[in-house]
Amino acid sequence: MKPSARTWAGCQVVRLDSVDSTNRIARQLAAQGAPHGTLVLARTQTAGRGRRGRSWISPDGDGIFMTLILRPGEDFASARNLSLQAALAVARAISRTTGLDARIKWPNDVVCMGRKVCGMLLEMDADGGVLHDVVLGVGINVHQQVFPEEIAHTASSLDLLTGARQDSEAVVSAFLDAMEEVCALAQADEAAFMAAYAAQSATLGQRVQVIAHAGSYTGLAQAVTPDGALLVLRDEDGALCEVLAADVSVRGIMGYV
Ligand code: BTN
Repeated sequence: MKPSARTWAGCQVVRLDSVDSTNRIARQLAAQGAPHGTLVLARTQTAGRGRRGRSWISPDGDGIFMTLILRPGEDFASARNLSLQAALAVARAISRTTGLDARIKWPNDVVCMGRKVCGMLLEMDADGGVLHDVVLGVGINVHQQVFPEEIAHTASSLDLLTGARQDSEAVVSAFLDAMEEVCALAQADEAAFMAAYAAQSATLGQRVQVIAHAGSYTGLAQAVTPDGALLVLRDEDGALCEVLAADVSVRGIMGYV
């Protein structure tokens, strides 16, 4: 990784070959006192975890499988919009290193040319309302040429989308730089951060389909609140709905037509 002016992100880098999940290892290291900014990187994962109990396929050397340990303090005060910050950092890192137009599909998938290239999984260790640490797991598809059938129409890799072999180390380094930059912005000026997030969104201003426990509906994505909720103007009755946890498809992106 090239030297940079970073102060905390990647202050320690733990490189591993094969692990079950970098999130699990990072949680273990965090419990043992690993410092804020420690990065766990693996070549492959045998039980990579995705959101909503899904798995994350992690073929050897083809993707970036990493987890950053974060501790509340001067770089971030609460986990309030941490997942939005992470998404913005990854989108900036991918844009800067590959030239692709990387956008955030709410809440924190990163898509390029309508295909998902990155997913994130945040896990927190809190006790009696006190947040001890957060592990931010990031999976980026870099060199994959084929995907399993169930995601073949929605996923892609940086190599496939650019038609050139991309440099994973450069993407990781750009992510750590962007993480420091975005966290500093969010700490100093939340409104400016939210504006930067909105500018990189693939969801805002688009027609969306919300698939929630209570049922599904369509509408127009209006805003994302600093708490990370998506506000959707529902077609059926014009109600402004706050979406906290649901699958949200964006028309024209990853399958919603
Ligand atoms: C998603 O479902 O979109 C989130 C996927 C998160 C995958 C990454 S890969 C590195 C880290 N370790 C894991 O087990 N999961 C995350």
